[in-house]
Amino acid sequence: MKNITTIGIIGAGHIGSQVARLAVANGYGVVISNSRGPEILAALVADLGPRARAAIAAEAAKAGDIVVVAIPLKNYSTVPVAPLAGKIVIDTGNYYPQRDGHIPALDDESTTTSELLQAHLPASKVVKAFNHIHAADITTDGQPAGTKNRRALVIAGDDAGAKATVAALLDEFGFDTADAGPLKEGWRIQRDTPGYGPRRTAEELRRDLAAAKRYGAS
Ligand SMILES: NC(=O)c1ccc[n+]([C@@H]2O[C@H](COP(=O)([O-])OP(=O)(O)OC[C@H]3O[C@@H](n4cnc5c(N)ncnc54)[C@H](OP(=O)(O)O)[C@@H]3O)[C@@H](O)[C@H]2O)c1
Repeated sequence: MKNITTIGIIGAGHIGSQVARLAVANGYGVVISNSRGPEILAALVADLGPRARAAIAAEAAKAGDIVVVAIPLKNYSTVPVAPLAGKIVIDTGNYYPQRDGHIPALDDESTTTSELLQAHLPASKVVKAFNHIHAADITTDGQPAGTKNRRALVIAGDDAGAKATVAALLDEFGFDTADAGPLKEGWRIQRDTPGYGPRRTAEELRRDLAAAKRYGAS
């Protein structure tokens, strides 16, 4: 894509490593990071090939034209702020209280996961994406644009331009998109909603988004 050559990735686990594979396969440079240090990622980087390198999170944030945050939600406040100013940040995160501990503003549904990240990164444009696809499917389910029944992924975001850029990137990566609206609507694709997990086309996902119920309503 024009103006995007490098994707920074914060988090190199199930989802971060798979997004890295997808990015490299589509010709992008990748700078990927974790919490324990870049040397831990030697095998992954070797597997990803010459377009990829490992770095600390701040360096991945600085190097990426777009940056993907793929860490357990409980650690979102450690995401580097300054190097992400002005950038599109893709948030893959989900809330699992048993993993993340209880976060009152999510328990009482007064906010959503990606709004928390957006509040932490006020000068960035956060777009929710990749949160509802099993990591393994990321590298197997993409298909060329126009394929009948192509799989779609939900996006949500408060900045229309950033959302359009992420939709174009996902299209290149092999996926249609279904737009859930602003970040505050991101709950429509949180855990236990109909669209969370299974393979869906854009039309099916739009139906799932409309049918989603908040936890308090169920
Ligand atoms: N797994 C899936 O299929 C899937 C699908 C969609 C969305 N998600 C969501 O995506 C997020 C990540 O999930 P995951 O399954 O990829 O987790 P994971 O396999 O446990 O990997 C987490 C990664 O984040 C790194 N990390 C943790 N804290 C960090 C920090 N403060 N700064 C930088 N890196 C940090 C870890 O590095 P160290 O190992 O060095 O600590 C590790 O590389 C979660 O919110 C999850 O719900 C997961």
